[in-house]
Amino acid sequence: MARVTSTVFATPAVVPADSSERSRYSDKTLTAKPARTGPADGGRPLLTYARDVADFPGVRLHVVTGKGGTGKTTVAASLALALAGGGRKVLLAEVEGRQGLAQLFDCPPLRYEERKVAVAPGGGDVFALSIDPEDALLDYLHMFYKLSRTGVAARTLRRMGAIEFATTVAPGLRDVLLTGKVKEAVVRRGGNGTAAYDAVVLDAPPTGRIARFLNISQEVSGLAKVGPIKAQSDGVMAVLRSQRTAIHLCTLLEEMPVQETIDGVAELEQVRLPVGGVVVNGIRPPLLPPAALSAAEAGTLDRAQIASGLEKAALDAPDDLVDTLVGEAGDHAVRVALEERGRDSLGALHRPTYELPMLAEAVDLGSLYELADMLKAQGMA
Ligand SMILES: Nc1ncnc2c1ncn2[C@@H]1O[C@H](COP(=O)(O)OP(=O)(O)OP(=O)(O)O)[C@@H](O)[C@H]1O
Ligand SMILES: [Mg+2]
Repeated sequence: MARVTSTVFATPAVVPADSSERSRYSDKTLTAKPARTGPADGGRPLLTYARDVADFPGVRLHVVTGKGGTGKTTVAASLALALAGGGRKVLLAEVEGRQGLAQLFDCPPLRYEERKVAVAPGGGDVFALSIDPEDALLDYLHMFYKLSRTGVAARTLRRMGAIEFATTVAPGLRDVLLTGKVKEAVVRRGGNGTAAYDAVVLDAPPTGRIARFLNISQEVSGLAKVGPIKAQSDGVMAVLRSQRTAIHLCTLLEEMPVQETIDGVAELEQVRLPVGGVVVNGIRPPLLPPAALSAAEAGTLDRAQIASGLEKAALDAPDDLVDTLVGEAGDHAVRVALEERGRDSLGALHRPTYELPMLAEAVDLGSLYELADMLKAQGMA
């Protein structure tokens, strides 16, 4: 099981930490509370709930986007576990055929079929599925036209490559089919009339494509002005634009992902899609206390103190080693300063913000539970 890296909290031998001086970052990492301010568009109430109430109480569809590789799949899976805790039923869906969820949950490849992949802490189930346009179209034809999913017509459509053809000619149709299935799961009722799922979490396409992917009414406007596709797209859009949906953005504290997050929020707001929270993933707390960071950045670290720190640790302290350490401390201080600027830029978005640490080992099912706990403790679920 991966654990939160502990070395990042250790006192470095090079520059002894001043115990009276807490890191200026320590308050903001694992124990960070989300910034409880509401979005600028006023579309949602200010988030002033008590600590034990999650930040998105009415939300049934959580869409997780972000720059490629920033942790969308990891965060979506952790959020699903967090939401399922205490006996709830959550569906986790992927739409890009990447099988990222199957890898994380260490299960056979997901198909177009809801399958239980994990049990949440305190009871509760996470189901998962991979939505692909071909199956989604056959499902749609089955639901609305009673066409058998496995009958001759369906087999012929598949064999002719008709679906691939249709979705290639009209990419908007592909997105309507994918989001249509997600919406169907959100509004589905069980036999007793209650919601089939308490929440649906979508491991969504990256920020660069998310607004187009979700803003399907725009996508299909050239395709269908009336008829079933238009009706389907209107129904999906009604859920996506409603208070039942929150689109969360996942990022790292690096220049490009931060910028992409800011641009993504602006783009989503522009097309009136409901932005949720920002999840800052891969947090690495500074290795040096603030005074040492400032000195490292200014190139004024006390070389004698570094040498004596090395000697105290029973290590040789030749000049070139001290030089190397001073250089590394300088690079580290620059990175920390950049991260802090990234944090400030994200803070200016005034969205609930959650932080997850960089784990020391590869993410596995055990680490998902840890990350889920952290999201829950910070109020995201
Ligand atoms: N908090 C973390 N600590 C350590 N490793 C992490 C963390 N979050 C994600 N990772 C790792 O980073 C890599 C990218 O994560 P993930 O696949 O979740 O990102 P993604 O945004 O879904 O990527 P893609 O754009 O390729 O779909 C994976 O190898 C994952 O295990
Ligand atoms: Mg992914």
